[in-house]
Amino acid sequence: MNEYVLEMKGITKTFPGVIALDNVSFGVKKGEVHALVGENGAGKSTLMKILNGVIKANSGEMYLDGTKTNISGVNDAQDKGLSIIFQEFNLINTLSVAENIFLGGLNRPKIVDWRNMRIKAQGLLKSLGFSFDVRRVVGELSTAEKQLVEIAKALSFNSKIIVMDEPTSSLTKSEEKMLFKIIKELKAKGVTIIYISHKLEEIFEICDTVTVLRDGKVIDVNPVSAITKDMIIEKMVGRTVDVEYPKRTILPGEKVMEVKNLYRTKILKNISFDLRKGEILGIAGLVGSGRTELAEAIFGAERFDKGNIKINGKVIKLRSTRDGKANSIGMVTEDRKETGLVLDFSVTNNITITNLNNVTSQRILNSRKEKDVAKRFIEELKIKTPSHKQEVVNLSGGNQQKVVLAKWLFSNADILILDEPTRGIDVGAKYEIYCLMNKLVAEGKSIIMISSELPEVLGMSDRILVMHEGEIKGELLGESASGEDVMQMIIN
Ligand SMILES: Nc1ncnc2c1ncn2[C@@H]1O[C@H](COP(=O)(O)OP(=O)(O)OP(=O)(O)O)[C@@H](O)[C@H]1O
Ligand SMILES: [Mg+2]
Repeated sequence: MNEYVLEMKGITKTFPGVIALDNVSFGVKKGEVHALVGENGAGKSTLMKILNGVIKANSGEMYLDGTKTNISGVNDAQDKGLSIIFQEFNLINTLSVAENIFLGGLNRPKIVDWRNMRIKAQGLLKSLGFSFDVRRVVGELSTAEKQLVEIAKALSFNSKIIVMDEPTSSLTKSEEKMLFKIIKELKAKGVTIIYISHKLEEIFEICDTVTVLRDGKVIDVNPVSAITKDMIIEKMVGRTVDVEYPKRTILPGEKVMEVKNLYRTKILKNISFDLRKGEILGIAGLVGSGRTELAEAIFGAERFDKGNIKINGKVIKLRSTRDGKANSIGMVTEDRKETGLVLDFSVTNNITITNLNNVTSQRILNSRKEKDVAKRFIEELKIKTPSHKQEVVNLSGGNQQKVVLAKWLFSNADILILDEPTRGIDVGAKYEIYCLMNKLVAEGKSIIMISSELPEVLGMSDRILVMHEGEIKGELLGESASGEDVMQMIIN
């Protein structure tokens, strides 16, 4: 018997101006968890979309259990025992959780038994250890909850090969643990998993084998036991990279923002803090602790019931994001697809949209200036795109995130709120983003950074506010704080 449950041979895929996959061969054994890693734009998602019939390769062959197979589309892939947890959520916001989970089934002509579907969906979520009402409309769910629905959906098909494309990028540590438990159970049942992630620690926790892709080519395949994190990074990037946090020398100056007793029923409990010029203020806390809600309140995207916000000593009116922008506050949102980008606009237009004055001469948009700005950011952030004119919908997930960042770096906002800024960004590019953050504060801007990656908050912040259940439980100095200090504050 063939030891490979899946083999892809000589897969090539091109898009206009891009060779996404160049003669890739990829083999996976039955019952293993196989990691697929590589920089943003390396071709990971593309390869997995070909496997799941979402897109077609230009050339190449595929074998399932040693038999040559053709996948004609998504339904065909499902019938052949393949499913995928998409990196970009593939959910329909106006439908319920239950409907989203079983939509694959709904696509085909048959009568829908709504009650039965709800019961099944609830049972499925329960068996996974997730507890939320399947009648809720997906559009109202948090990013983490959407991720859980996406996971449940992929598992509902009882597939024999499941692809997970960055499944933990918006999960909390406890949900991540739940997912790892599920993966181990699936593996024990003989299910094969292909696991994509930029969090390389995860690979050492749950994967057996790792394939590294670089620029659309397979660079290396190894048992996880025979490789280290540094070796993986070097193969991914093609050189050694700095994974430490770059140092800052400048000390924060005068207060630029004062938040006093901000209150919103059930969500924010009398939040007070200051932000200084040239400061990076980290906000740590579990998902659901109110960090995003606080960020949205001080940007004007969400209301607050009581309290006030002063900028440079004056109380400001903050009823909409327009007020936020008028007061020179910018926000990089957690969910790039819904609120961060205009997907069918070009890279250039997405970046310059926050500061059109800067690319206008005599009230007319100057496309040369626009192009120069876009090209500068494409270079600084190493955005992988065939041209500055490419529509962002065609960029890889991590490169879309870089465009969101570029857009706010270019804005003239003095106060930048970054909500999970490095989500989905590869290890090499993270360091570049940290350096840019340091450059911004050195220019006198101030940054509020929310991140679920505790090492990142600890490594980059001057001060850290620890939030829990809508409250600030305490403050720590970035220089001396440890992960335990943060967790202690949350518990106490
Ligand atoms: N529909 C498309 N049209 C044009 N180019 C595309 C399209 N889909 C992907 N690409 C390009 O193919 C390359 C590989 O993209 P892919 O999404 O597979 O990367 P990835 O390894 O998943 O990266 P990330 O870690 O950022 O998710 C990128 O250069 C991307 O811009
Ligand atoms: Mg991807």
